[in-house]
Amino acid sequence: MVGREATRVVVVPDGPLLVEGPVEVVLPDGSVRLSERPVVALCACRRSRTYPFCDTSHRRRGRPAPGSGRVVGQG
Ligand code: FES
Repeated sequence: MVGREATRVVVVPDGPLLVEGPVEVVLPDGSVRLSERPVVALCACRRSRTYPFCDTSHRRRGRPAPGSGRVVGQG
């Protein structure tokens, strides 16, 4: 790479992806979400109510049912 350092992404086991910010996230519908935090937690579990950003919902038990977006096995 010339003139730019690599962006560091840290994968948190069973948690978010931590990305050095600020970041712009482009969603499948083309909308853009901006975070100017120095470290941004991106949701990898699809449970966040603030998707694409992590809201710590991953800490709840259960996983989304494949293709449904619903969380099963909570308790
Ligand atoms: S990874 Fe934290 S809410 Fe999805």
